[in-house]
Amino acid sequence: MRIAMIGSGYVGLVSGACLADFGHEVICIDKDAAKIEALKRNQIPIFEPGLDDLVASNVRAGRLSFTTDLAEPVGAADVVFIAVGTPSRRGDGHADLSYVYAAAREIALAAKGFTVVVTKSTVPVGTGDEVERVIREANPDADVAVVSNPEFLREGAAIDDFKRPDRIVVGVEGERGKATMSEVYRPLYLNQAPILFTSRRSSELIKYAANAFLAMKITFINEMADLCESVGADVQAVSRGIGLDNRIGSKFLHAGPGYGGSCFPKDTLALVKTAQDHGTPLRLIETTVSINDQRKRAMARKVIQASGGDIRGRKVAILGLTFKPNTDDMREAPSLSIIQALQDAGATISAYDPEGMAPARQLLTDVTYAADAYDAAADADALVIVTEWNTFRALDLKRLKSVMKTPLLVDLRNIYRRDDVLREGFRYVSVGRPGDDGAFQLDVAAE
Ligand SMILES: NC(=O)c1ccc[n+]([C@@H]2O[C@H](COP(=O)([O-])OP(=O)(O)OC[C@H]3O[C@@H](n4cnc5c(N)ncnc54)[C@H](O)[C@@H]3O)[C@@H](O)[C@H]2O)c1
Repeated sequence: MRIAMIGSGYVGLVSGACLADFGHEVICIDKDAAKIEALKRNQIPIFEPGLDDLVASNVRAGRLSFTTDLAEPVGAADVVFIAVGTPSRRGDGHADLSYVYAAAREIALAAKGFTVVVTKSTVPVGTGDEVERVIREANPDADVAVVSNPEFLREGAAIDDFKRPDRIVVGVEGERGKATMSEVYRPLYLNQAPILFTSRRSSELIKYAANAFLAMKITFINEMADLCESVGADVQAVSRGIGLDNRIGSKFLHAGPGYGGSCFPKDTLALVKTAQDHGTPLRLIETTVSINDQRKRAMARKVIQASGGDIRGRKVAILGLTFKPNTDDMREAPSLSIIQALQDAGATISAYDPEGMAPARQLLTDVTYAADAYDAAADADALVIVTEWNTFRALDLKRLKSVMKTPLLVDLRNIYRRDDVLREGFRYVSVGRPGDDGAFQLDVAAE
């Protein structure tokens, strides 16, 4: 099958490479010429484990190529995926659909013969209808089926998620589109991945509902962690105790500094806006958004309180900048708000992240970037673990203590055992676990 993938960012590139690996002939298109030139030289613009090998092997096999020119590959394609960005629209939080509609107009003018147009970008309910309208307006003769096929991959595990998904959701209104999409994903349901065919609107909403539910689950356990701190319970025990219940499940129950990333913050906000527009407010999600926003600043206060209440002139070492491990994505990373709040309180910041320092330089000012965790910790008054990269899980605490000015470890991901840290002479503050000094309790209400 011939596939054109419009947008070669995180989702487009991973999806394109995986679809090529299934045996399809895929051309990844992007209007960013530098990105396409880099891809042609086999340089992958993002950090995603395994992606470089997957791209290289499929390029070698002649199934995957890259271009900035949309017209030719779209004209030749059986299926055109739209995988462009849908960021928050400045000012109101709605999803910005301008890239999606621009792509739809270009497809309308370039498509030849029956073409299935698949929206893989995360788009609000009803966008498929509008994409269809835009195409028909630009080219009334275009023979297209507009399909919704949201993507559920997680950065850091993207290839595995694409190739072994929990489910594939396809929102489609006609038989021709359905038959084509069955063919696209045939290699996957040979692997018994469930494929759910549904209406286009339901499919669009499934993506937002899934992200909103997961964001709510994280926020639930974060609030539970605050309560644990107040009552002397251990949030990790609470997580395990509830997660063993199959109806709840153990995933997304790790207390921490609040969710970030390229999806949850913008998608929860966009869903809230859609619901308000339709006169059906989603109060649980509205509250989730607001709690999560406050939480990031509350984490900075936690560091300040752990440092005795005044951090002016102190040096804070930050370990982990990306919104989660195994990615270089800094979009909406909690580290951004935490570092800003610490700087506002007068701290100087040194930081280390295995993959995120180059993108962080574009977003943060007055941060000293270190060569490794020990370099970051040199002369620091506090060491704060913000992102749980594996390399931070077994730090040499003796060595850290010897280079730090004040041995204080603030572990916002609960990756250390208190006893191990205390034994090495550190003070230790974590999230929702007993034993922290009561003075370090969060005071979210103060915000
Ligand atoms: N990143 C994730 O983990 C993830 C997961 C699931 C769904 N999504 C959704 O997938 C979509 C894409 O996300 P992403 O993270 O890959 O975005 P991204 O910003 O990494 O990539 C988007 C790419 O599209 C290109 N582009 C925009 N308009 C174009 C046009 N008209 N022609 C050609 N190229 C064009 C941009 O240059 C950019 O390279 C979003 O809607 C997002 O919400 C993302």
